[in-house]
Amino acid sequence: MAEALRIGIAGLGTVGASVARVLSEKAAELTRQCGREIVVTAVSARDRTRDRGVDLGGAKWFDDPAELARSADIDVFVELIGGDDGPARACVKAALEAGRHVVTANKALLARHGVLLAEIAEKKGVLLNYEAAVAGGIPVIKTMREAMAGNSVSRVFGILNGTCNYILTRMEAEGLSFDACLKDAQRLGYAEADPTFDIEGHDTAHKLAILTSLAFGCRISADDIYMEGISNISQADIRAAGELGYRIKLLGVAQITESGIEQRVHPTMVPTASVIAQVHGVTNAVAIETDILGELLLSGPGAGGNATASAVVGDIADIAKSRPGFQHGPVFGRPAKELKPYKRARMRSHEGGYFIRLTVHDRVGVFAAVAKRMADNEISLESIVQHAAEPEAGTAKTVILVTHETTEAAVRKAVDGITKDGHLTDKPQVIRIERAG
Ligand SMILES: NC(=O)c1ccc[n+]([C@@H]2O[C@H](COP(=O)([O-])OP(=O)(O)OC[C@H]3O[C@@H](n4cnc5c(N)ncnc54)[C@H](OP(=O)(O)O)[C@@H]3O)[C@@H](O)[C@H]2O)c1
Repeated sequence: MAEALRIGIAGLGTVGASVARVLSEKAAELTRQCGREIVVTAVSARDRTRDRGVDLGGAKWFDDPAELARSADIDVFVELIGGDDGPARACVKAALEAGRHVVTANKALLARHGVLLAEIAEKKGVLLNYEAAVAGGIPVIKTMREAMAGNSVSRVFGILNGTCNYILTRMEAEGLSFDACLKDAQRLGYAEADPTFDIEGHDTAHKLAILTSLAFGCRISADDIYMEGISNISQADIRAAGELGYRIKLLGVAQITESGIEQRVHPTMVPTASVIAQVHGVTNAVAIETDILGELLLSGPGAGGNATASAVVGDIADIAKSRPGFQHGPVFGRPAKELKPYKRARMRSHEGGYFIRLTVHDRVGVFAAVAKRMADNEISLESIVQHAAEPEAGTAKTVILVTHETTEAAVRKAVDGITKDGHLTDKPQVIRIERAG
């Protein structure tokens, strides 16, 4: 049998401790599958005394993860510290430069420094595997990088943040407010004490940036992503969506358009009957549209110790099975040096349907004035409905418009015009409608 594959794990938190446990509990099965043993020979974390729920007695302890990364006693460096800078970046770079394979679950690191790290990995002829960085346990990276050779992707979109999907699912199912659902998510450990990163879309954007590069063969460009979170989604929106045959999801969407690549993260109305609308709670899903395959949807657990460990262990097993001297495939599907510059499509040129909810004064002429602003901007309406407003809005009325396909620029201009006309008693709400099968 080949020599054992020696693993160094930096970070023994939720994911790191689960990875160590799975490698220990599944040691015999992994040896059978990989044809060699996988042994954790070294570990690093901040607190040496903390019980990690797994016996790490046989592994050498390193206070400094960068020292572990450079250690000659490991073949694979597994980075599970997190963060786009600081120790994670320094030690992944050090490990690759020292010729070690790297496995990481760190989407923030890859979204910021992925191309640079891929260049080092490819120069050194080692693997940089990151399946767990996007959608946790769902094997989307492998699917896009390996199983879809020859396919040209036109759009990739998904529910990439379990916290947001949990909140939106409960708001709809139980009629609760955003704040009440967020508090529950925090109590159950689905949301961080500071939830901004999740609910304002940053986490989804990091994952989307990686998918965009894989899908379109371009350099990663996380800073170019248009981003809106879910904190301003109200019960009024959820109810109106339901009445119109839609469900609200926070989606990350990347698509090829005539003016470039669109990358956007925002609350989205998807048809209630679509497959992605059936993805509830903390579950994640990724849909990929290609010329050969058509539309593929993968869904499953997007976070948590076990699900994430499953992806990390899969990446480690791939390294265990790879043959010495074998030229590995490129990290982002194409050689890092050949990734095209990212050509950004401006959000104003986005084309699609729109849901617009306006809270207006209850007076003569408002309805006609709203309709006129739409017509002036060449927006054709699928429906326009007047409702009694929410009880807290007093005598105001709600007008709900659904547009046919139009541009973001036209919608913004029309809504600005309506606001200037002085008919609104509250901020207008605009939610994009996404085509989904
Ligand atoms: N949690 C999930 O469900 C999930 C899902 C997908 C991807 N990920 C990604 O997986 C990575 C780890 O996440 P996590 O949830 O496991 O984080 P976590 O529970 O906060 O664990 C972080 C670990 O890093 C260690 N650490 C921090 N600074 C260190 C330093 N300077 N030197 C050595 N060790 C250091 C900590 O040590 P101490 O324990 O001693 O404090 C801790 O063990 C992140 O990149 C995250 O984005 C997580």
